[in-house]
Amino acid sequence: MSRTVYVNGDYVPEQEAKVSIFDRAFLMADGVYEVTSVLGGKLIDFDGHLARLQRSLDALEIPNPLGRAAWLAIHRRLVAENGIDDGLVYLQVTRGAPGDRDFAYPDPDTTAPTVVLFTQNKPGLADSAQARAGLKVITVEDIRWGRRDIKTVQLLYPSMAKMMAKKAGCDDAWMVEDGFVTEGTSNNAWIASGGKLVTRQRNTDILHGITRAAVMRCAAETGVGVEERPFTVAEAQAAEEAFITSASAFVMPVVAIDGAAVGAGVPGPVTRRLREIYLEEMRANAL
Ligand code: PDD
Repeated sequence: MSRTVYVNGDYVPEQEAKVSIFDRAFLMADGVYEVTSVLGGKLIDFDGHLARLQRSLDALEIPNPLGRAAWLAIHRRLVAENGIDDGLVYLQVTRGAPGDRDFAYPDPDTTAPTVVLFTQNKPGLADSAQARAGLKVITVEDIRWGRRDIKTVQLLYPSMAKMMAKKAGCDDAWMVEDGFVTEGTSNNAWIASGGKLVTRQRNTDILHGITRAAVMRCAAETGVGVEERPFTVAEAQAAEEAFITSASAFVMPVVAIDGAAVGAGVPGPVTRRLREIYLEEMRANAL
C-alpha cells in the first residue's frame, strides 16, 4: 500500500516523491534527521525531538525551515493519512540542492533546505518479542567521526556494525573507544550495577538521546540513582543488568555482550520496570 509522504511542502504518494541528485545529503551526507515514535496514534516526546533537531541544525548552520506548529501539523497529518496507530515518523532536513557539487556550503538565501518526512507502520511497537527476550550484542571499535552529538544521516559505520552483529548471530553492536563503551549502533547504552544505573555522559562522543533524557527523569522519580560516566565492556559483562534506549526501542534489555550473559541472561527487573514507567509516562504525555 502506498504511503503519503511529505516533500518540501507537498503531501504526495511515495512513488511521486522526488529529491534532486544535487542534494547535499545525497552527495555529502549533509543533512540531519529525527525519528519520533507513535503509540496509539500519538507522538512520543515530540518536543524533545524538535529541540534536538534545532541543536543539530544549529551545529551545521542549516536554518530551521519550519516552526513548531508546522512541524507538529506535518507529523500529525502523516500519522492520520497513513493510519498509523503504532510506528514511527522519520524526518530529514538537508542543506538543500545547489545546482552543482561543491565542498563549500551554498548560500542559504538561494539554496533552501530540503525537508522530507515519512511514516513507518509498526503494529505492536511497544509489545515486542525482543523486549521479552532481550538483545544479544557484540562489541566493535567505534571508528565514527568526532561529532556524534549531531544527528546526521552519515550512518554507514553504524550500518556496517549492525551487519557485523547479524553475521555473528546477534542483534546489535555496542561501539567501544579506548576500552569504554560509547553507544549502540542506533541507541544509548546503559548498565545497572551496584544498585545504580550507569550511562555515558553527554559530550561529542555520543548522541544525546531523547529517550536517554526521559529515562533519566523516570529513574530520578523512582529514586534510582544514575551515574553519568563511561564504563568498560568487562564492567558491562559483570553488571546485574544492561539495556539500551532509543525512540524506536524505548527501554530494551541486553542479555548478552560478546557471548557473556549479563546477570541471569534474561531481562532483569530494573530494566523491565523502567520500560513500564517510561512507556506509561510517555503515553500519558503524547501529542
Ligand atoms: N537512533 N545513539 C545513536 C547513535 C542513535 O542513532 C540513536 C537514535 C540514539 C538514541 O536517541 P533517541 O533516544 O533520541 O532515539 C542514540 C534512531 C532511533 C535511528 O537512527 O533510527
